[in-house]
Amino acid sequence: MKIVYNNDIETQLIVEFVPHFVAELPYSKFQGKDSQISMCNTTVYVGTKGIKDSDGWRQLGFTLVQYLREQKAKTVSMVLPDKCRQFIEGMYLGAYTFDKYKSKNEPVKLKRIIIRGNHKIVAELNAAKIYIDAQNMVRDWVNTSPEDANSSTIRDAVCKSFEDTNVQVEVFNSQYLAGFGMNGHLAVNRASRHEAMTIKLTYNPGGSYHVCLIGKGLTYDSGGLSIKPGSSMTTMKADKAGAMTVWGIVKAAEELQLNVKITAYLCLAENMIDGSAYKPDDVITMKNGKTVHVKNTDAEGRIVLFDNICLAQELDEDADEFYTLATLTGAAVYQFGNEAAGMVGFNDNMKRKIKKFGDKAGEVFMDAAFHKYMMDGVDDSLADLSNTGTSNMGCQKAGLFLTNAVKKKNKQKYLHLDIAGPAFVEKEFGTNVSGGTGFAVRTFLEYLKKIGT
Ligand code: BES
Ligand code: ZN
Ligand code: ZN
Repeated sequence: MKIVYNNDIETQLIVEFVPHFVAELPYSKFQGKDSQISMCNTTVYVGTKGIKDSDGWRQLGFTLVQYLREQKAKTVSMVLPDKCRQFIEGMYLGAYTFDKYKSKNEPVKLKRIIIRGNHKIVAELNAAKIYIDAQNMVRDWVNTSPEDANSSTIRDAVCKSFEDTNVQVEVFNSQYLAGFGMNGHLAVNRASRHEAMTIKLTYNPGGSYHVCLIGKGLTYDSGGLSIKPGSSMTTMKADKAGAMTVWGIVKAAEELQLNVKITAYLCLAENMIDGSAYKPDDVITMKNGKTVHVKNTDAEGRIVLFDNICLAQELDEDADEFYTLATLTGAAVYQFGNEAAGMVGFNDNMKRKIKKFGDKAGEVFMDAAFHKYMMDGVDDSLADLSNTGTSNMGCQKAGLFLTNAVKKKNKQKYLHLDIAGPAFVEKEFGTNVSGGTGFAVRTFLEYLKKIGT
């Protein structure tokens, strides 16, 4: 589906936004309430009464496109309301489909939406497209099967996506990782046919603020020897969502030419089983010298991220903020549901900021706070740390484990985001269709745009 600006072309249907009752609709119950949509002849009436914020417009764009698709509309035109960037975002999000694995593609019915009115709207149109192209790219990769999305295919696609841009791509293959002493990352990947890899992206337009993003990229998580039950395994292609998300964020930031330095780490591995697999009872010496007792090989994401947090602090000493984005725990899904992510860290200001920009983006972040009795929750009697720990607060505990990789001077600069719930959903919610959602792309773009304009 294309959304273009044009004042001249004739279309099959015309959309009108109305904040009140419409008498023309015969015997109509149309009150103009938001998300109420009704068609009369060739006009589609869209209620806007009660829309409170820009996310309401985003939601309405999503609902409208779904409606138009159900009506089998082909070409539609509309004059847009004020908050149009978010509304256009919603329409792009609603038009998303993933049919890579269908042998017969459905013919595209809704071909074109024509935006009429003031030419100034074109800038909004372009910005919305950049935001959502990035988010939909993340959705595509999260939805792609683990055979097709492995560390090499991802590496090739990442390199290609930044050709002819000023984003620098560095690939640290397993030899590099060994040289860096990243024994945790390597151990998790040991039973995989695919190579362990960290891809570093640097977008440096000269801005004075530097944000570092570190994404969990488990191209598949079988659980390893502590194998997952079959039913929990079928969505584990989505365990790479954190890495795909940080890629999408850099992609859009570059296209928008935001004036903020961003570095991103895509931490790629696959948690599999063969004779060389890492084992419960192994003790691993991590990049910063701390030792980890492996109690459960399914708690692999924190091991991979731990080493990469160490690496990022070494290579990006000047970063002002560090974030990890990860589908890290099933516990986060229980605690916050599929609609919200958990935030773990020591700096309440960072949490407030992400929550605020999340609200703007229509994405929910909730505080997963520590309490004083859980601070020894990942201590171990055999080694320095245990990868499962003792407390029941699974999301916090995984975050607490990660903070052991954070240097003292950076503790206030670090925030962990557990996106296990909203990164991949079976049931549609908000502006998400089922499958990969691209959650957190919009929140970070809102935030980075604020710093970098
Ligand atoms: N990738 C999973 C977490 C996950 C679960 C993401 C459900 C999305 C949906 C992670 O690696 C994992 O398996 N964590 C374990 C840790 C446990 C063994 C301490 C979990 O949460 O069950
Ligand atoms: Zn796991
Ligand atoms: Zn995992």
